[in-house]
Amino acid sequence: MNIGIVGLGYWGPNLVRNFAALDAVEGVLCWDQDPARLATVVRQYPKTRAVGSLEELLRSDCAGVAVVTPISFHHPIGMEVLRRGKHLLVEKPIAASVREAEELVAEAARRSLVLMVDHTFLYTGAVRHMREVMEQGGIGEVYYVDSVRVNLGLFQHDVNVVWDLAPHDVSIMTHLLGRGPVAVSAVGVGHLNTMEDVAYLTLHFEGNVIGHLHVNWLAPVKVRRMLIGGSQKMIVYDDTEPSEKVKVYDRGVSIVSREGIYRTLVEYRTGDMSAPKLDTTEALALVTRDFLRAMQGGGPPLCDGTAGLDVVRVLEAADRSMRSGGALVRMDRP
Ligand SMILES: NC(=O)c1ccc[n+]([C@@H]2O[C@H](COP(=O)([O-])OP(=O)(O)OC[C@H]3O[C@@H](n4cnc5c(N)ncnc54)[C@H](O)[C@@H]3O)[C@@H](O)[C@H]2O)c1
Repeated sequence: MNIGIVGLGYWGPNLVRNFAALDAVEGVLCWDQDPARLATVVRQYPKTRAVGSLEELLRSDCAGVAVVTPISFHHPIGMEVLRRGKHLLVEKPIAASVREAEELVAEAARRSLVLMVDHTFLYTGAVRHMREVMEQGGIGEVYYVDSVRVNLGLFQHDVNVVWDLAPHDVSIMTHLLGRGPVAVSAVGVGHLNTMEDVAYLTLHFEGNVIGHLHVNWLAPVKVRRMLIGGSQKMIVYDDTEPSEKVKVYDRGVSIVSREGIYRTLVEYRTGDMSAPKLDTTEALALVTRDFLRAMQGGGPPLCDGTAGLDVVRVLEAADRSMRSGGALVRMDRP
């Protein structure tokens, strides 16, 4: 089959490379409104062919299309793709608003087409391992998830730092916890343009679990670190580590006796740390394979349109909270 890709800037070529590597993919039809980018990418990768317009790509026989443009184009181009009867893979976040995301989900459902969002991190060996451990209750009762994702740039021009970076952490947190937040609060400031470039989000989950995210385009160093605290074990996930990205600490605190506030006895447990061997398959290779599997009738992808919509609900709630000075925004259950 043929696959189409729209948008060949920083991220698009990674999808081109991974689709081209799949045996089931005969050709990758490429379109970018920047002719120089288009020519460079098509020269670089096998199986690729440039088309002269989005219309030409949509008229072609490609069975599925990946949209890897800036976020404001995800919805208009994605809707066109679906209306032409083609399966759709959209970059994160799936759309620029809940309304847009809902329209994409409804259109795909109406036409029985695959709608998938590229929440890349869910396909990494690190997140897959943490999910397995947590699903089996391996860290005990979850207390909190604390995530820091900061670096200097890359600025996206059409959205704030929350919409650019937080989709990763929100998708990881909700995937690991198996549920979305019930309320969100956020504060942020913008220094270099009108949009926030530094933000702090707090996510409240059922079961007294709290999640915190720090996303920032103005940090001198790149930090990609998540702490997960449980009653039995604690996890440190550092994505910048070349190996040993996930460390599971057999550490915790327990109450020995509770005889009034000044007499409560606590015990600190400091056991071993283990750094499991993780599957190092490139996450995007698994993303492209999952898209193809779903297109071939193998069942919904791990990150379907609804998963994309759920993340956008959180981002929109965070925006609303930032506009009202950090007020708690309750998530409307659909
Ligand atoms: N999953 C991940 O880890 C990950 C990482 C980086 C970026 N992304 C996502 O990928 C998308 C693109 O990000 P990027 O950093 O590559 O941006 P970018 O600005 O580097 O590239 C975007 C490309 O799209 C092209 N383009 C813009 N509007 C277009 C249109 N209407 N028709 C055709 N081409 C168009 C531009 O010419 C450019 O080449 C964003 O949604 C971003 O959130 C995801």
